[in-house]
Order: sequence, then structure tokens, then C-alpha cells
Amino acid sequence: MTPKLRQSGKGWVAGKCRILVIFVRICSKFVADLPHSRPQSDIRGSLAHARMLAKQGIIAAADLVDIERGMAIVSAEIESGQFEWSLDLEDVHLNIEKRLTAIVGDAGKRLHTGRSRNDQVATDIRLYLRDSIDDILVLIKAFRGALVDLADKEAATPMPGFTHLQVAQPVTFGHHMLAYFEMFGRDAERFVDCRKRVARLPLGAAALAGTTYPIDREFVAEQLGFEGVCENSLDAVSDRDFAIEFTSACALLMMHVSRLSEELVMWMSPRVGFIQIADRFCTGSSIMPQKKNPDVPELARGKTGRVYGQLMSLLTLMKSQPLAYNKDNQEDKEPLFDAVDTVTDTLRIFADMAGGITVRADNMKAALTQGFATATDLADYLTKKGLPFRDAHEAVGHAVKAAEFKGVDLPGLTLEELRQFSPLIENDVFSVLTVEGSLASRNHIGGTAPAQVKAAVARARQRLG
Ligand code: ARG
Repeated sequence: MTPKLRQSGKGWVAGKCRILVIFVRICSKFVADLPHSRPQSDIRGSLAHARMLAKQGIIAAADLVDIERGMAIVSAEIESGQFEWSLDLEDVHLNIEKRLTAIVGDAGKRLHTGRSRNDQVATDIRLYLRDSIDDILVLIKAFRGALVDLADKEAATPMPGFTHLQVAQPVTFGHHMLAYFEMFGRDAERFVDCRKRVARLPLGAAALAGTTYPIDREFVAEQLGFEGVCENSLDAVSDRDFAIEFTSACALLMMHVSRLSEELVMWMSPRVGFIQIADRFCTGSSIMPQKKNPDVPELARGKTGRVYGQLMSLLTLMKSQPLAYNKDNQEDKEPLFDAVDTVTDTLRIFADMAGGITVRADNMKAALTQGFATATDLADYLTKKGLPFRDAHEAVGHAVKAAEFKGVDLPGLTLEELRQFSPLIENDVFSVLTVEGSLASRNHIGGTAPAQVKAAVARARQRLG
């Protein structure tokens, strides 16, 4: 790790324009909240290593006492911002070791016995990533919780479901929100799975071949809460596939964020008018007084590209490295830290924003009457009366054309007009052609019937725990 990267980045925040001032406000709180600052990973790894060295009699018990005392001081200096980082000392590891030695003397110089910066940095990154995954999982849970709350509230609110961005069939807004609940659930699963491969201990691999001291790697792994040790020393110090895997989970999550963002932007457009999001997530225009721009979703959509870029950086960084450690790997920090910051900040903002979404049910209803959204219901009605589905499909196609010509939605045609397309149509057809009828009839697990959405909400709450 390099000194210039020691601070947790401000994530979303850069530049001077007004919207970013809002983000400084929103994000600075997040950065301050993060429990795991990056250099602390290095100190934790060192302490576990020192305890093992003392337990194995490789250093004296008194040295361990000194190291623990000195590291507590170093740690406090870093947290309070008093620590003086020196670029001349090359990286975070050497900065900390030098300061430790200045405080406690020879014990500080004994800390590096039986290890190398190669296994040290690999351990640091894994510690940092494991803790970041734990943070991210908490944030995903909060965000999914906000989505379920919204789904619960709008479980029976009809909106047009789209295919090809054209009105397709009625769904409920709650159902739509639960689709995202599922996507972010799979994202969480990916992080949980990736965590297993992250939480393996490289320490003990030393520079590349292992060490001549009688170390106890299992003990260090246990101290750090890792699930086991890396089996092969060359692999332990050289591969960063776990970091790539993590960033790829970040990229997939951001892809889902971006899809939702795109919808929020569209729904916020006065042309569509399906939702409002709270003012603090929007800005006005410096020139057009009437504007309320959905900046947060737009920025999130933009941030997605950034995380994809970090994934590409890491893949490319790794692709031609011969075994074992190469200095190329120092370049893994910036993309990784940036991916973590972007994802954690985005999730926090989105959990907050989801709670502030208000739905314009009237506009959704109006949109539903413009796209022949119950055409499939009419086809199903005819099929249930014995007409083969293909013929029903064709008959309804003609009915839609007639409705279009008359300038009405399907329920705007009279029974007589409808019967021109099939004599099977009777008076009961109108209950099928209403939005409420259409919704209620999709009454199975995974369907959009309000009763099913309510049941799905209950299951979702249970799954969230
Ligand atoms: N600063 C390096 C990194 O971030 C760790 C030191 C690597 N070892 C070395 N011999 N240069 O990966």
C-alpha cells in the first residue's frame, strides 16, 4: 500500500459544482462512519504476526509487549491524522515499521522476522476487502429493506409494465420494486461467496517460497478471523484473483444500480411523471428555473462506468504477470479502493433515496389506459373460451386496431364492437379488460397480483432477517 492512498477516498465527491456540494454533505458522513481505515489492516496483520512470533519463541515476550504498545500509539496517530507519512519510505508498511521502531526501539526491528512485504501486503488487502465486504453486506441489506418498504406501500398500485419500452401489461409498482430486491439479493450472495476466497491467509509465504522460521500459520489465520491459510506460497503472494472477483461483484451490483437509476430518471421526467424523489437528491439548473434534475440517479448511472473501468484495470494488471510477486501489484490499490468507496457510498445514498420516493399513481394509471395494456388478457379470455391462442392473438390484434382508430382503450369499445372480432366475447369481458382484473388474475408465486405482491413482501422481509 502506498502512503498517498492511506485516506479513505471521498468516493463520489469531486469538483466544485453545486450538486457535488450535496454529495460532500451526504458522503462525508459515510466516510466518517467507516470502521476500517486502510492502514489499520496493516497494523492488525502485524500484531497477529508478532503474537505468533512470540508464541513460537521466535521473538521474546518482552518484544511483543513493546510492539503492542508501540502499535497502539501508531494506530492512534493515524486515526487522529497526526501520523507523518513520508513518500521517501516507499509504502505504508515501511512508514509504520519505521515509526514503530522510533517509539519502541529494537522490538520494532524484529517485527519483520519471517515475513516479507509481499505476504504482508497480500494479507492487508484481504483483511481490508473482507471487512469491506461485511460493510457492503450491511448496506445492501438496508437498501433492500427500503425497497421492500416501498413495495409494501405500493403493492396494489398499478403501473404499466414495459417491454421494448412500450406499454406491455399492467404490473404493480410494488412488484417492480421487488424485481430489484431480487437483483440486489443475488449481488449480496456473490459478495458472501467471494468472501470465502478472500478470507485466506497469505502470511507465512514470505517473499515467495516460505520461511526458515518455525512459524504457525494456522494461529495467525485464527487471530485474524480468516477461514484458513493459502496453500501455496507462490500463489499466496502473487495472485489477486480474489480482488478481481470482488470488483466483478461490484461491477454487477453497479449494473443493477444503473438499471434502476435509468428507470428513476425516466419516471422523474415530467413527460412520464411516475414518481418524485426527495428534493435533496435533485438539483435545479443554473439557467432554467423550472428544472428539478434527478442528479443522484444520473451520477450513479455514471459511476457504474467507473467501477467497470476498475474491473478492467485489475484484470489487465494481472494478465501477464509471471509468478510470483511483481511490483505491478502495487497498482491494485487505487482501483480496489475506488470500487469499494463508490459501491459503499452509492448503496448508502440509494437506501436513503428509496425511502423518499413518492409515487404518482394517477399518472401511472393514465399511462396504462394509453397502451392497450390488457390486450393479452383479452387473448387469454378468448383462449379460455376455446379459441386456439394464435387465433385469439390475431382477433385481439384487430380489436386493438379498431380501438386505436376510435381513439379509445380496449374497454372503450362496446360489446357489439368487440363481438365483431369474436362471437365468443360476452358481457363478462369487461372485468377482464380492467387493470384491476388483469392484475388480480396473475395470482401465482412470482406474479403481479397485489395479494401475491403482499405475500412476496412478507417472504422478502423474512429472507432479510
Ligand atoms: N507496496 C507494495 C504493494 O503495495 C508492497 C511491497 C512489495 N514488495 C516489494 N518487494 N516491493 O504491493
